[in-house]
Amino acid sequence: MELIEAGYQASGTDGTASVGGGAVGRAGQRRLTLLGRLREDVQAVLDRDPSATSARDVALFATGLHAVWSYRRNHWLWEHGARRLATYLSQRTRRRLGVEIHPAATIGRRFVIDHGMGVVIGATAVIGDDVMLYQGVTLGMTGKHAGKRHPTLGNNVMVGARATILGDIRIGNGSKVGAGAVVLHDVPDDVTVAGVPASVVREHRCWEAGRPSLVPDVVAQADDENLRWSCSL
Ligand SMILES: CC(C)(COP(=O)(O)OP(=O)(O)OC[C@H]1O[C@@H](n2cnc3c(N)ncnc32)[C@H](O)[C@@H]1OP(=O)(O)O)[C@@H](O)C(=O)NCCC(=O)NCCS
Repeated sequence: MELIEAGYQASGTDGTASVGGGAVGRAGQRRLTLLGRLREDVQAVLDRDPSATSARDVALFATGLHAVWSYRRNHWLWEHGARRLATYLSQRTRRRLGVEIHPAATIGRRFVIDHGMGVVIGATAVIGDDVMLYQGVTLGMTGKHAGKRHPTLGNNVMVGARATILGDIRIGNGSKVGAGAVVLHDVPDDVTVAGVPASVVREHRCWEAGRPSLVPDVVAQADDENLRWSCSL
């Protein structure tokens, strides 16, 4: 509920944040919008984590969700000039939850971190909507460049445990990065990459040009477990 006190309102894929001022009625609407965003984050965990069965338990106990909410507050503070406080709070979250997300990073809606511990997201990283990271993921820099030096992840991206994605590279919409991969180059849309260094190991059959090529019922009834798993991400 710290977020409500801060008056935070996330705005969408560009990850910018805005805050209210003005009429009480509009403030009420913004509060509802914020609650909607918080519910959306909880629902994203319920949708993606088979072990999550209760919204209340997710809100109370999901480490990754707490890290995401902390980031959203810290990003708002960062964008509104309270950079030292944002940095202090993000470091406090790192100590408490083991997740380090720089407050300047740009992260979209329904972002899920499963388990959380060991995730590091750098200052110039950009993350789209409906992205899921597992524990130990690094979105880092190579150490060779300044400026935009961290990765950009498109929408509907999944990054497996302990994967390391380095530099100002782009992971395309709907793509998956296998656990333990080290990714140093752009990844196209709708593929799976794995290995060290990462290479394409699979092209998804359920997405074409960023849209499902199979209607959901067909996917749900498919015999192929891999297909259902790919399409549900
Ligand atoms: C990448 C992943 C999502 C599978 O995606 P997919 O698109 O269904 O790919 P497939 O399973 O068909 O694998 C394609 C090929 O890549 C290989 N592969 C898959 N994941 C791999 C990985 N992490 N590292 C190396 N190779 C991998 C498979 O063995 C397969 O090779 P093969 O065709 O020679 O058998 C899954 O393997 C993965 O890594 N998930 C991460 C989940 C995670 O982090 N869980 C932690 C929960 S606590």
